[in-house]
Amino acid sequence: MSEDPSMAPLIEHLLARRAEPARDGVPPTGEQLATILKVATRVPDHGALRPWRFVVIEGSRAKAEWADAMESGLRLTKGPELPESVVAKMRGKTEAAPCSVMVVSSPEPESNIEVWEQEASAACTGYAIVLAATALGLGAIWKSAKVLDAPPVRECFALAGPERLLGWINIGSPEVPKERRGFDEAGRPAPPVTYLAGS
Ligand SMILES: Cc1cc2nc3c(=O)[nH]c(=O)nc-3n(C[C@H](O)[C@H](O)[C@H](O)COP(=O)(O)O)c2cc1C
Repeated sequence: MSEDPSMAPLIEHLLARRAEPARDGVPPTGEQLATILKVATRVPDHGALRPWRFVVIEGSRAKAEWADAMESGLRLTKGPELPESVVAKMRGKTEAAPCSVMVVSSPEPESNIEVWEQEASAACTGYAIVLAATALGLGAIWKSAKVLDAPPVRECFALAGPERLLGWINIGSPEVPKERRGFDEAGRPAPPVTYLAGS
């Protein structure tokens, strides 16, 4: 394909994207969220299995349910007696943004497409959500926690069998991002690339 100058803004967007914590912002509109999730389902998907699903978490009741599950998971993993600060830090993760989209990898083990390929496809949806949200002018950051495999958290998101939580994307009003990491002096990311010899 020849170089298309109309694609330059897309490349600029991809290069400029930064994780932007969306604390204290407003949630995306229903229309924005629908667009974001539509974009998420256009990721590479070997066998068209759609091996992912999303859970949108908005509002104080949903967040409280999620926080309770995270706290239970933490106590189950680390023991029931924990410093209040540790519990508060875990619960606080659920309140960091007005909207969080949990990314669930939902592979079909019976398929001839390997499970890792299906999980890779699911992981792509997380990035697609981040890209779509930032393209709409929102802040977005992918987050995770060590308790996502704990039974109370799995139950909270109705995970079955081989399903896994890949973390969640916080979405809201953008904030000024922190200093860039992994960028060269020209402000461009420096990819860790080598070329296979022998061409
Ligand atoms: C699966 C996954 C989980 C992540 N979990 C966290 C997290 O819990 N906390 C965090 O600060 N960053 C987490 N990140 C990284 C951030 O989303 C973000 O990439 C990072 O803050 C660097 O910012 P940048 O994307 O602007 O370079 C995670 C990324 C991925 C792919």
